[in-house]
Amino acid sequence: MKKRLLSVLLATGMVATSLVGCTAGGAGGKKVGVAMPTKDLQRWNQDGSNMEKELKAAGYTVDLQYASNDINTQVTQIENMIASGCDVLVIASIDGNSLGTVLEKAKEKGIEVIAYDRLIMNTDAVTYYATFDNKLVGTKQGQYIEDQLGLKDGKSGYNMEIFTGDPGDNNAKFFYDGAMEVLNPYIENGQITVPSNQIDFNTVATANWASDAAQARMEAIISANYADGTQLDAVMCSNDSTAFGVTNALVANYAGNHNNWPIITGQDCDIANVKNMLAGKQSMSIFKDTRTLASQTVKMVDAILKGTEAPVNDKETYDNGVKVVPSYLCEPVFADANNYKEILIDSKYYTEEQLQ
Ligand code: BGC
Repeated sequence: MKKRLLSVLLATGMVATSLVGCTAGGAGGKKVGVAMPTKDLQRWNQDGSNMEKELKAAGYTVDLQYASNDINTQVTQIENMIASGCDVLVIASIDGNSLGTVLEKAKEKGIEVIAYDRLIMNTDAVTYYATFDNKLVGTKQGQYIEDQLGLKDGKSGYNMEIFTGDPGDNNAKFFYDGAMEVLNPYIENGQITVPSNQIDFNTVATANWASDAAQARMEAIISANYADGTQLDAVMCSNDSTAFGVTNALVANYAGNHNNWPIITGQDCDIANVKNMLAGKQSMSIFKDTRTLASQTVKMVDAILKGTEAPVNDKETYDNGVKVVPSYLCEPVFADANNYKEILIDSKYYTEEQLQ
């Protein structure tokens, strides 16, 4: 009887399926190290917990670490992951240029690395890169300002300021370039003026993407250029943490003696920023669904451990100085007060209560 049952099950493939199911969800008890930059920004907490959830659901053991935006801490965490037997590393780097040496150790042990969201530079020890289309993020921010100000229709006489991210984060330049490709022609033809004259990447960069630093720079810009009542029409901020600092500076030093509020862009749809959006203090934020990024990354982990190839959709853009890293680029979209319900609530990213 039992033999017959077994052969029926074998013929239908059911035994094979259930046996795979027994081996720790198909992942054979393999361990994945996930190194995240910081808990300070909501987005990385979300990335970390999505990655952990998805990897565990696929049967992996997970070593998830956050490094308080401190490069040495991240290097030590990665060394520990290598020493403690992680089979694959998923790394959102703090500084893309600082991991070459530690990743050599991973390579010596045959541990493959996936660059998560931020490209890891100047090393051949990176197998894949999972991210969003970073240039498109910037393009969408630039186009939002272009649309809202009617720049294509030739409207003119606008003042704008620019805030981007950390120069050690390879993404920052992509965001900046995407936005400036749209906005630069209007600066050049005079439809937009940048009263502070702070335009080039290094001048408008924000170390560690820190809100405090963005706030301090915006305060200085306001007192030097807008204290006389000059109107500020737009602030191109590459992400939500910089937008948050800019907004705070405007609330404290601009709102009282001006009767307009500038267009402010952002990225990540962090809860505090979505609340600002609903209160009319930030205009938009790029939404990058970290659930999609996590599931693409898990596909890469699976492929590496099975010795197959992971799905990628870009084999050209992300040259890390040593090699072009095969990448999967997820698509960013923008959210604002008009579409946030559809983008953020209907997709179950947030509940209405979280945004109140
Ligand atoms: C990410 C952004 C984030 C920024 C600051 C970038 O690398 O792509 O989503 O806002 O880092 O953490």
